[in-house]
Amino acid sequence: MPRLHLAFEGIDGSGLTTHSRLLVERLSKRGYRSFYSKEPTNGPIGRLIRELLASRDEPDHVMMALLFAADRRWNYYSSPNSIRGMLERGYIVVSDRYKYSSIAYQGAFAGIDWVWSINSRVPHSDAIIYIDVPVDVALRRVRERARNGAVIEAYEERAYLEKIKEAYEEVLERAANEGIIVKRVPMVESGRERPIEDVADEVFDFALSLVERI
Ligand code: TYD
Repeated sequence: MPRLHLAFEGIDGSGLTTHSRLLVERLSKRGYRSFYSKEPTNGPIGRLIRELLASRDEPDHVMMALLFAADRRWNYYSSPNSIRGMLERGYIVVSDRYKYSSIAYQGAFAGIDWVWSINSRVPHSDAIIYIDVPVDVALRRVRERARNGAVIEAYEERAYLEKIKEAYEEVLERAANEGIIVKRVPMVESGRERPIEDVADEVFDFALSLVERI
């Protein structure tokens, strides 16, 4: 069985949960055992993070970086369904956000080098699937979600998302330089939002190309 860890990344409102779940579903249907892993987790540190994110105060980025890094350590090594454990059992692990979220979100404010370094005690993923969405589209989706009852979280504001999107560019470049495969998937083409299925097909083809390579 191939050993493969894929990380979905992007700003809020880019549809990471939808696409990571669809990928797991499609890989499973093809006969590849796949596992969906979410950060922040629902473990002890993840629950604390959610509580802090729900408050609309200016986040303490250094504290958040440390908490996310701790949550990730737990998710990779200690959780009952740890990423390491699932990889060892032969699953393809699909992360709905991984350390590159921290490096972009917290790194944008607390320093990319420092956040990169405090996350170096968990391995890199094999590939990053970056869903590239314009900030305007992302904000519209976040607001739609809020109208349907979702809580607006700390980073879901234009000024933040613009800065975080910029930071992602640096993170992706650095990741590629370190040998991580970076796949960019645009959500908007010729000024129009692509249908979900179209984006999901592109993601699936990419994942299959990796599975078949290993
Ligand atoms: P998100 O996956 O967007 O949660 P939901 O699916 O419930 O909207 O993650 C919650 C927020 O946490 C989001 O704004 C991104 C942010 N985040 C960080 O700032 N750093 C991190 O390391 C991670 C994993 C998420």
